Amino acid sequence: MEQTKIILSEKEIPQAWYNIQPDLPEPLAPPLHPKTFKPLGPEDLAPLFPMELIKQEVSQERWIDIPDEVLDVYKMWRPTPLHRAYRLEKALNTPARIYYKNESISPPGSHKPNTAVAQAYYNKKEGVKRIATETGAGQWGSALAFGCNIFGLKCTVYMVKVSYQQKPYRRVLMETWGAEVHPSPTNSTNAGRSILEKDPKCPGSLGIAISEAVEDAVTHDDTKYSLGSVLNHVLLHQTVVGLELKKQLKLAEEKPDILIGCVGGGSNFAGFCFPFVKDKLQGKKIQIIACEPEACPTLTRGPYRYDFGDTACTAPVVKMFTLGHSFIPPPIHSGGLRYHGDAPLMCLLVNKGIIEARAYHQNPVFEAAVLFARTEGILPAPETAHCIKAGIDEAKKCKETGEEKCIVIAFSGHGHFDLAAYDAYLGKKLEDYAYPEEKIKEALAAIPAIG
Ligand SMILES: Cc1ncc(COP(=O)(O)O)c(C=O)c1O
Repeated sequence: MEQTKIILSEKEIPQAWYNIQPDLPEPLAPPLHPKTFKPLGPEDLAPLFPMELIKQEVSQERWIDIPDEVLDVYKMWRPTPLHRAYRLEKALNTPARIYYKNESISPPGSHKPNTAVAQAYYNKKEGVKRIATETGAGQWGSALAFGCNIFGLKCTVYMVKVSYQQKPYRRVLMETWGAEVHPSPTNSTNAGRSILEKDPKCPGSLGIAISEAVEDAVTHDDTKYSLGSVLNHVLLHQTVVGLELKKQLKLAEEKPDILIGCVGGGSNFAGFCFPFVKDKLQGKKIQIIACEPEACPTLTRGPYRYDFGDTACTAPVVKMFTLGHSFIPPPIHSGGLRYHGDAPLMCLLVNKGIIEARAYHQNPVFEAAVLFARTEGILPAPETAHCIKAGIDEAKKCKETGEEKCIVIAFSGHGHFDLAAYDAYLGKKLEDYAYPEEKIKEALAAIPAIG
């Protein structure tokens, strides 16, 4: 009988993360200090992150051992299954073979705890008592709350106020795991107060929440900051996904023709495909496709250049595809895909043509998500639905050409906390936004002229 789920045993959880840095076609451009524009040193990052994570950020070691304590927590849900989407294939009547690597089975419901658990562990080991972070709709905040709870750390989450008010259930999940959640902007940081003085009704933004969490960390000796995407060490931790996938494809006697993932800051996509990028650089023919929203078209319409990582210009300046740090994303339902930039490691590979990028409107994305839910049963997160759309398009192309391609989708999370978005789609109330060209030009004009 054909296998529907390809499952590994706990012994087969990877023992080391894969660091792509020594295998890049050219070295990464150095991150710069936001005030001096000089390359950043470890001392600049020390107030924010534990030293072990700073070392991982710049490491040139190809393999970095996963500590036993982290592996022990990974065992709560890892290895995650690789599913063959037989029912979706049948509905599409395609000769393609479609697989999805299912990260939605983690306790918080996405790939995010792969790094949250590791980050909480290294902070705990270095004597940190509390971690501060930001969250938009709550996927990252809930993953960090989960990780901190496991290692006995306090967790403070600055949650964008409009989400705090409109999407209370992820807040409840974070609080259940013991985190303190504040609607941002708050009155307890200078960054928050200065915004509220100007605009007491400010609905908040990810940029403001980042500034508040960073300020909280640098003004408290026992507290550090944590980021859920973009940084090299975050992408590194996510490679457990791609490393497991490699073993599972081997078991299924498959070689992937197409790998597809969605991109917010790039962490799930990178973790899923970086172990295969190495094969591609060595000559294997694999198409690697990154999917993003038309409303936040960083990779498809942004230039590749240095820009600030946050709106307040306090985060490091990094070389990436960017829509400009003052870019304000339209209110689409994929909260996790609304960042103005993307991970520098991933951007380098897009710039080199090793990874290709596509952008989609939200109505066709939800149409794909509903077809997936009606065939495979699982309700995808709106973010994840972007790469399901691309996977379905590729499978339809195979139907036209008769090609029997092996397509693998990164199923980054479930959408159980996103039912309002599904309600809007089913009620035909979703709007498609393409970000206007003149707005992109306006935001790009404010980028520092470096490199
Ligand atoms: C389910 C899911 N997928 C994807 C993303 C995008 O983030 P990243 O690009 O870092 O994987 C998010 C972000 O919150 C998410 O919650």
